[in-house]
Formats: sequence, C-alpha cells, structure tokens
Amino acid sequence: MPHLLHIDSSIQGEASVSRTLTARAAQAWKAANPDGTVTYRDLAADPLPLLTGEQNYARFLPVEQYTPAQVEARALTQQLADEILAADTVILGLPLYNYNAPATVKTWVDHLVFPGVTTDPATSEGLLGGRKFQVIATRGGGYGEGTPRHGWDHASPWLVQVLSTLGIEADVIAVELTLAGIVPAMEPLKPLAAESLAAGHRDIDAVFGEPVAASA
Ligand SMILES: Cc1cc2nc3c(=O)[nH]c(=O)nc-3n(C[C@H](O)[C@H](O)[C@H](O)COP(=O)(O)O)c2cc1C
Repeated sequence: MPHLLHIDSSIQGEASVSRTLTARAAQAWKAANPDGTVTYRDLAADPLPLLTGEQNYARFLPVEQYTPAQVEARALTQQLADEILAADTVILGLPLYNYNAPATVKTWVDHLVFPGVTTDPATSEGLLGGRKFQVIATRGGGYGEGTPRHGWDHASPWLVQVLSTLGIEADVIAVELTLAGIVPAMEPLKPLAAESLAAGHRDIDAVFGEPVAASA
C-alpha cells in the first residue's frame, strides 16, 4: 500500500507558507493514492529533544554497553528511520530561518544520522534510498543568482547534501520572497513574489498532480 511521510517544521502556524504548500502536495498525493496511508510529523509542534553527547556516543559503543539514555536515543533514531523506510514518498517543508534550516530540522537530522541504522558502518553507504523525497522550501527573501544574498541560503543545500549521505536523493521546490506582502520595504517585489508562488504551485502540481477541488 502506498505510504506518505509528511513532515512540517514551520513555527508560523496558519501563517506558514511551507505548511500550505506541503498540504497542497499531500492532498494531491492522497487523491492520486486513494488507498494510501499517511504518517504526519510536526517538528515544530512536537520538537525532538536535542541530541546529547551521551546519546551521540552510542554511535561508537556496542549495544550491550548502552546506558538507558543511549538505548532511548537509538530507539528514537530507529523510529525516525522506520518512518522514512515505510514511505514511498516523503514531503518535507523547509522554511529558511536566519539563513539556515529550522533548529528542529537540524535536530531531526542529528538523530537520523547513525552508522548501523541509517548508514552501513563498513561502507558508509546510506540506507534510506529508494523513495521520492520532496523538499518544499520557503524563503522570505530572494537568493537567486545575481541577487545580493546569493549563496546565503544554507538550508536547502545543506539538507540535500546531508540526506545524500543517507542514500536519499532529495528534490527541492522553492518559493521565495514570501515576506513581500509583510515587509513594507519589499513592496516592489510583490509581483516577483507572486510569480515565485505560482511557479511553486506549478512545480508541486507537476510532481504530485493537480489540486483537488473542494467538495460542495
Ligand atoms: C525566525 C525567523 C527567521 C527568519 N530568517 C529569515 C532569513 O534569514 N532569510 C529569509 O529570507 N527569510 C527569513 N525569515 C522569513 C521566512 O523565511 C519566511 O517567513 C518563510 O515563509 C518561512 O516559511 P514558513 O512561512 O513556512 O514559516 C525568517 C522567519 C523567521 C520566523
């Protein structure tokens, strides 16, 4: 049975653009997979605990020597890995906060990277490949080539790179200039922002299918 893992991380609740976009993709996925099932993880509403040094050290110890905290941490890693392994498709909303990923996404990755669980300890090969992994990124500003802050977006490039170590080939759809309607100085950028949003919708629909009309 098809299975979707839908992950959100925006702290902005109903004002979040990434949540709206991941919901659009997930809704289209459900319409295309009526017998499919969904796991939803909200990293903002239900943040994972920061990885501690003791927990991290479990990566270098035989299981028989684990402390209770290390047993717990490995179980969490296994759960996060299993959520991905159970899914044919993963959709992850990735807002840009202070030129980087939300801390909750960083923590999710810190738990996920674990030789023996998500990588092969002998070869370092990633073990989470073989599924569609769609990142939907949102940025308040614009970071395209030729813009003053080109290269300042460290969220999407980092996430794609670190996921590749786990065998995941992530694709990114990005919507930029989401602050144009909010920050007065960005008023002239509103048309570009609308273009970016429309392009994001088109890209999502091309991957997941047209949005489903609301029933009367
Ligand atoms: C804490 C915080 C930090 C932010 N930092 C940046 C930033 O560094 N660069 C940027 O372009 N936008 C920044 N923004 C704006 C967000 O990228 C923008 O609101 C985007 O839509 C976030 O996705 P979301 O709407 O799903 O939360 C920031 C927003 C917040 C809440």
